[in-house]
Amino acid sequence: MFMDNILNHIGKTPLVHLDNLSQELKINVYAKMESMNPGKSLKDRSSKNILLQALKRKLINTKTTVIESSSGNMAIGLARVCSLLGLKFIAVVDPNINSQTLKILQLYGAHIEMVSVTDGTGSYLNTRLKRVQTLLSSIPNSYTTNQYSNPDNPQAHRHIFKEIKADLGHSPDYLFTAVSTCGSVRGILDEIAVNQDKTKVIAVDAEGSLIFSDQVKTRYIPGMGASRKPDFDITQSLYAHQLVSEQETIAGCYQLLKLECILAGGSTGAQVAALMKRAPTLEPGADVCMIVADDGERYLDTIYDTEWVKRKIDKK
Ligand SMILES: Cc1ncc(COP(=O)(O)O)c(C=O)c1O
Repeated sequence: MFMDNILNHIGKTPLVHLDNLSQELKINVYAKMESMNPGKSLKDRSSKNILLQALKRKLINTKTTVIESSSGNMAIGLARVCSLLGLKFIAVVDPNINSQTLKILQLYGAHIEMVSVTDGTGSYLNTRLKRVQTLLSSIPNSYTTNQYSNPDNPQAHRHIFKEIKADLGHSPDYLFTAVSTCGSVRGILDEIAVNQDKTKVIAVDAEGSLIFSDQVKTRYIPGMGASRKPDFDITQSLYAHQLVSEQETIAGCYQLLKLECILAGGSTGAQVAALMKRAPTLEPGADVCMIVADDGERYLDTIYDTEWVKRKIDKK
């Protein structure tokens, strides 16, 4: 009998050579299309692996309520897996969430906990994390997937690098990737370390995020950056990091759309912006990978809405 479900189609995403961007930058740029996962982001990998491992270790059962703080993508991944496994799911989100993401979460049956107070850094992450703790202490048989420090999060992303290497036939010279929990970059770095690959990893972060800097700034684009230091240690093994402003992020999104017809989310635009800044320092012809972390359709009312950009970003 044919046995299948949508979770079996997470991962093994395409690797695309970006001809026009490559020509412009005189390097070989490849995009790992994580936006082509069923939930349209790289967080499908984290949510599937964390929940399946938790089930295997009997940390959760069919009566468990799963709770997670998310800027959107992780919540979508978890909502789908929870729905398939028959688990209750509470997504703790904040007002920067895209309206489409909110609607999708509701359609998957997630319960939404919306925080409203910023955490003193112009962002909501610490408020969300406090709300998770409050919910955990008040709901019996509740469990947080805790994407911020759960080792099954980076573990899931080791496959991203394995797949890139298999498709290219060798390890790339450079890999650019956007960071928030730093789970995906940690997994990629772990995979590189195990095989002693030559790939140099450049983490791309938002200006105003506290991952690499201590200068906070209000940010409106979800998915990238954090208003706290990450639990996953990445500084030792990174080649470099690149900060990008929200204006540059949006310009990067439009650049990718114009040159490659790829409508991507903010963190991907930030990687394009980081690539443009760093390309003159890279060897001509170098193989450079970037991660298309999510799809742009969820940003039609924000990044791709000129009125929103004028109101929120240009006025900063
Ligand atoms: C669109 C997007 N890009 C990048 C990231 C960063 O991933 P990580 O949390 O693994 O650092 C996220 C995380 O939610 C995301 O949603």
